[in-house]
Amino acid sequence: MNAKEIDQQTLLQNERDPLTHTPVHLLSLDGIAKHYGNIIALSEVTMAVDNGRVTCVLGDNGAGKSTLIKIIAGLHQHDAGILKVMGEERKFTSPRDALDVGIATVYQDLAVVPLMPIWRNFFLGSELTSGFGPFKSMDVEKMKEITLKELAAMGIDLRDVEQPIGQLSGGERQCVAIARAVYFGAKVLILDEPTAALGVKQSGVVLRYILQARDRGLGVIFITHNPHHAFPVGDRFLLLKRGKSIGYYDKKDITLDELTAQMAGGAELAELAHELEQLGGHGDVVKEVQGEVAEVAQTTGKTYG
Ligand SMILES: Nc1ncnc2c1ncn2[C@@H]1O[C@H](COP(=O)(O)OP(=O)(O)O)[C@@H](O)[C@H]1O
Ligand SMILES: [Mg+2]
Repeated sequence: MNAKEIDQQTLLQNERDPLTHTPVHLLSLDGIAKHYGNIIALSEVTMAVDNGRVTCVLGDNGAGKSTLIKIIAGLHQHDAGILKVMGEERKFTSPRDALDVGIATVYQDLAVVPLMPIWRNFFLGSELTSGFGPFKSMDVEKMKEITLKELAAMGIDLRDVEQPIGQLSGGERQCVAIARAVYFGAKVLILDEPTAALGVKQSGVVLRYILQARDRGLGVIFITHNPHHAFPVGDRFLLLKRGKSIGYYDKKDITLDELTAQMAGGAELAELAHELEQLGGHGDVVKEVQGEVAEVAQTTGKTYG
């Protein structure tokens, strides 16, 4: 296979502070591990996130994607390894800690209040007020104005921010959440499977806003199980399987076909073919699986068996 993995040794040394010449990433994980009781949810995970770059985390169900996010977002603590934000080691004890250093997370099941207007959702928990003391009141006009302006700046054209957010499509709601994170000064934006429940067109819309956030200088972590969504927008790809990294690539060193084949798991298909053969599986089924193995082997240049 032609895909060249990023060397784990040099990964964390690549970007350097122009003044001190020490390695500095917006966010870096070095050998991160997490277990829940006996279950090893993550082990030895190393990756970096930089300004204006999209780091994609790919993996099937149970791969450890959500666990990884929860550690970065301050919901869970890692058991081993080093998490650094702008070169400084951190261990978050609450989501507030992560938010304070500019790490914002957009979860798949967005925490929105469907009947509330878009502008209320945009400012939820961070409402603007005017006046002070007993004369303090919500500055509604200002909040509406900012919401409209910020959404427009992300290329989201809404006629009316008074509309209940529940009337927006799933994709539009994801976009509002991204615009909100950008407005409130996020440096790292984590998106947990934002396209999983969306159709092709809606997914395209969300992918566009991921690039908008990137172009505004954020470091984006894009979680997905779909290589077709990851490849066009990603700069780096971390592949997880059962809590372990099975590859970490720079875009220039991997093709979409190779990424897809890695996700499909050529080695596992080969194993399945063997097993079916040994079980005296139906000839056609075995042949079919063997055909798939050959196909994966062809795209990756690897031989399995
Ligand atoms: N709170 C938890 N307690 C026990 N096991 C968990 C917990 N959260 C996740 N796991 C286990 O850790 C592994 C990784 O899960 P997860 O991070 O949710 O994967 P993904 O998001 O990629 O589907 C799975 O085996 C899962 O069952
Ligand atoms: Mg998950």
